[in-house]
Amino acid sequence: MRRKFPALRRRGGRPAPVYLDSACMSLVPQEVIDAMLEYYQQYPGCGGRSFHRNAEQVSQRFERARESFHQFLGTPSPQEIVFLRNSTEAINLVARGLPWKAHDRVVISDQEHNSNLIVWQRLRDEVGIHLDILKLPDAAAAVPEALEALLRPETRLVSLFHTSNLDGRTLPIREIAERVHARGARLLVDGCQAAPHLALDLRTLGADYYAVSGHKMLGPTGTGVLASNDPERLRELSPLLVGGETVEWSTLEGHALRAPPHRFEAGLQNYAGVLGAGAAVEFLRRCSLDEVRAHDLDLNRRVTRAFADEPRVQVLGPPDPADRPSILAFALEGIDPNDGALFLDEAHRVLLRAGMHCVHSWYRARGLSGNLRASFYLYNNLADARALIRGVTELLERIPGRPGPAGAPAG
Ligand SMILES: Cc1ncc(COP(=O)(O)O)c(C=O)c1O
Repeated sequence: MRRKFPALRRRGGRPAPVYLDSACMSLVPQEVIDAMLEYYQQYPGCGGRSFHRNAEQVSQRFERARESFHQFLGTPSPQEIVFLRNSTEAINLVARGLPWKAHDRVVISDQEHNSNLIVWQRLRDEVGIHLDILKLPDAAAAVPEALEALLRPETRLVSLFHTSNLDGRTLPIREIAERVHARGARLLVDGCQAAPHLALDLRTLGADYYAVSGHKMLGPTGTGVLASNDPERLRELSPLLVGGETVEWSTLEGHALRAPPHRFEAGLQNYAGVLGAGAAVEFLRRCSLDEVRAHDLDLNRRVTRAFADEPRVQVLGPPDPADRPSILAFALEGIDPNDGALFLDEAHRVLLRAGMHCVHSWYRARGLSGNLRASFYLYNNLADARALIRGVTELLERIPGRPGPAGAPAG
């Protein structure tokens, strides 16, 4: 598996990097790079506009990539797959595309990425919607009931992460969807941390809208999808951007929008990126996501167990790695997270994420300045887990802690 990822090769006599930042952006296998190169080298052209052979090839492959996402996410048909730049754009499309009235209500949790927070704050300020914040209980099973208490007749939409980038917990979306739908509201799910790891079927999951980022699931940067379990849900949205590609026809007086998904894909598309993302999804479809999950969990367990012996390491979120298999977020007492990340890279070639992980609201509410986050994926191995343990152990030895019991996270 590792040989398929060129970024994991040794270069210039230096050891291969220990890449533990896949929750931010995953690495890409050679076949994804090949799919993009092939586009530029063999049939560069713009799909859907010109009628020459290159354009024809691009159009066909673009639609094949849509078909791959349709199979992977389990939408009713390929037409419920909209290609966008990332999950941020997908969430914005829903937020900006639904016809809001002042006093409509939207529910989000207190642990959302900025991509699922800021756009709602802007709608609150500009349109007058009311934003309800669900304070997530620790136990995932308690979430549907806690949410129920916030649902009102005016609640139009609930928008929640599926798997959290902050601590790796996964919410019970199916039960949540049942409660949301019973109250006549819609459910938008930010699935960009779940789609790389969970076998999904949107027809049964119950999310009306599902946002993913290609670059977190072995695809190229700047690729994402808004998917839906019902074509009607897409027809309810007005496009975020309009222009070329989005219309059947136009005159100086007016125009007719194309049917979804095309009305949402404005202008010349990121053909190389979409073809690469399609190749990434095909790669994942050949893997067993259950096995990938078990593999992530095994590595996560080993590191979590090693950290349990060190009182200065505080793990965030669920204590059992089975409840956060792909993510291990931790604070090191007395060590600034950014300094920690720099040391781990410089001294051990361990690349991980430090800071507030774009969930500033969660850290600020607790007066915390951030932490470290290791994320595991299918190309990580035992040596990676050991390098992380070694690096953290050495860091703790070099920087003495405060006397007394373990205190709050760094900063
Ligand atoms: C849970 C979650 N939502 C949204 C995003 C935003 O993703 P993107 O930057 O690909 O749009 C991220 C990125 O880390 C994330 O982890």
